[in-house]
Amino acid sequence: MKQSVKLIAGNWKMNGLSASLQEAKALQDSLNDSPVAVRVALCPPATLVAQMAWTLKGGTVAVGGQDCHTEASGAFTGSIAASMLADAGARLVIVGHSERRAGFGETDADVSAKAEAALAAGLEPIICVGETLEQRQAGDAVAVVSAQVMGSLPTSLSGQAFAVAYEPVWAIGTGLTPTLDQIEEVHAAVRAAMVERLGEGGRTAPILYGGSVKPSNAAEILAVAEVGGALVGGASLKAEDFLGIIRAA
Ligand code: PGA
Repeated sequence: MKQSVKLIAGNWKMNGLSASLQEAKALQDSLNDSPVAVRVALCPPATLVAQMAWTLKGGTVAVGGQDCHTEASGAFTGSIAASMLADAGARLVIVGHSERRAGFGETDADVSAKAEAALAAGLEPIICVGETLEQRQAGDAVAVVSAQVMGSLPTSLSGQAFAVAYEPVWAIGTGLTPTLDQIEEVHAAVRAAMVERLGEGGRTAPILYGGSVKPSNAAEILAVAEVGGALVGGASLKAEDFLGIIRAA
């Protein structure tokens, strides 16, 4: 089956001040010296999107947002529209991260609407799904994640650039990762749900794995069937660590 180029995306979460841009620059410099065959993106806090896009101008590292509002504009104090991220230089945006779902009550319908807003602004959405520890222990991981894919992917994604990220909630920031067999099982289920939802349009978009990816486990995770890249939190903050993951892909 045709696979798209792997995507390695870093999610800085609520970390990073302007001084952190030197990490983005070090990353780009290293990739200039020694290019890779994967796509690389960094998703800094919204305050740094424009500066990072400027810092990386003309380079291969794309900049992304971490969330966007469902609406294109309006009276939503504190929120950021997808078009604003695009205007600031972003090319991608993460939507439906579990920290947004759990901490801000975002539903599958909200995530789907955010993905639509991203597409409308010309951004590539990275749509996150993943089960909690309780759901995994109850044997419901595949069912939960499949349902999230069905509910969080708008049909308008078909034919557009996008990615799905499978991030088990219990693996995020914990140092724990699923076994390679568990990753393979869920990624196969995600692909099946994408095809059920989008038809042929669900066959090629990459499915990223996220949750405690680090230089030491990246190669084996990225070699699993249907793992089309990684969404990296903590290990994306330092260029050296992130490069270790990128070069393992
Ligand atoms: P982590 O986070 O790599 O720090 O586990 C991943 C994520 O939340 O995207």
